[in-house]
Amino acid sequence: MSSTPPVLALPSVSDALAERLQRGLVEVDETLRRVVDHEDPFIAEASAHLADAGGKRFRPLLTLLAAEVGAGLNDEVVAAATGVELTHLASLYHDDVMDEADVRRGAPSVNAKYDNSTAILVGDLLFGTASSIIADLGPEAVKIQAQTFVRLCSGQIRDDRPCPPGADPVEYYLGVLADKTGVLIATAARYGAMFGGCAPGTVETLRVYGERLGMAFQLADDLIDIASEAGETGKTPGTDLREGKATLPVLYARASTDPADARLQELLASDLRDDDRLEEALALLRVHPAMERAREHTFAVAREAQHALAELPDSEAKEALLALATGVVTRAG
Ligand code: IPE
Ligand code: IPE
Ligand code: MG
Ligand code: MG
Ligand code: MG
Repeated sequence: MSSTPPVLALPSVSDALAERLQRGLVEVDETLRRVVDHEDPFIAEASAHLADAGGKRFRPLLTLLAAEVGAGLNDEVVAAATGVELTHLASLYHDDVMDEADVRRGAPSVNAKYDNSTAILVGDLLFGTASSIIADLGPEAVKIQAQTFVRLCSGQIRDDRPCPPGADPVEYYLGVLADKTGVLIATAARYGAMFGGCAPGTVETLRVYGERLGMAFQLADDLIDIASEAGETGKTPGTDLREGKATLPVLYARASTDPADARLQELLASDLRDDDRLEEALALLRVHPAMERAREHTFAVAREAQHALAELPDSEAKEALLALATGVVTRAG
């Protein structure tokens, strides 16, 4: 891995805990690299492409941290964390086809480097590899993985469709977020607690925390798509706008009745695949009060994630999970 995951730099994490998490992440990375390999050199290269490019490894880190609420690291926790990261990776292969993305993790996306068919099929292959790893963890883990996958795909399908007539656009958007991103992050936390040996009530607490954390994570990702500069995140800023995806700040700006917003609203209603129009829309949105309002909502969801942990006894792992929720919504990439 190229960079230290942000949580390891948190003041609430002792050297001993940071060392255990780091050791777990190294094991996850080794497992990941081993399982994405293939006897066919082309498949091996295309499967390893995004894993090699880096990424934050946020989901496996969450699994490891949730396990710390119980007895901590073991082989099953590492396998579960690897299965979750592989599921995430596969979803990125498909997401970049949907979103016509050219860059990911600072490298060419798989669809850009090869083609859409390769991205779809290698993504499928990685989903298969994830399922195979999870199958070694028993039927309950498989069931959770299957249900997670169904929700993730249903979120991605609905993300690609307009809000149905009569539905509230903000409600629709938040529902899509919970499914496309919340559920996998919830599963990351749930598996960590399960295989770390936590009692069922604690597993459920961490699942609920993870789902809210995942919502906050995607809300922050959507803000970063507007607020970041080129080269900052390893992705292309403005992708959501270019693709006509109405994220929370856009929904708020669209609903404004202030006549000063007429130009922004006109741009948002138009085809933003034109670079000049996209730049103008981004510049107007960055300074618009809708951004601040969306940021406040994002912070509120992160606080809801923290509230989910209220019943957990105090521990170092709990402190780190609380800090992680803040880190997710204050990150720049
Ligand atoms: C990107 O996830 C997809 C979203 C759900 C927003 P990450 O931001 O975790 O991407 P990597 O793994 O660090 O590349
Ligand atoms: C992707 O959301 C969610 C999933 C991959 C399931 P985005 O489309 O916002 O993710 P990025 O910004 O491309 O990473
Ligand atoms: Mg995308
Ligand atoms: Mg997308
Ligand atoms: Mg995004």
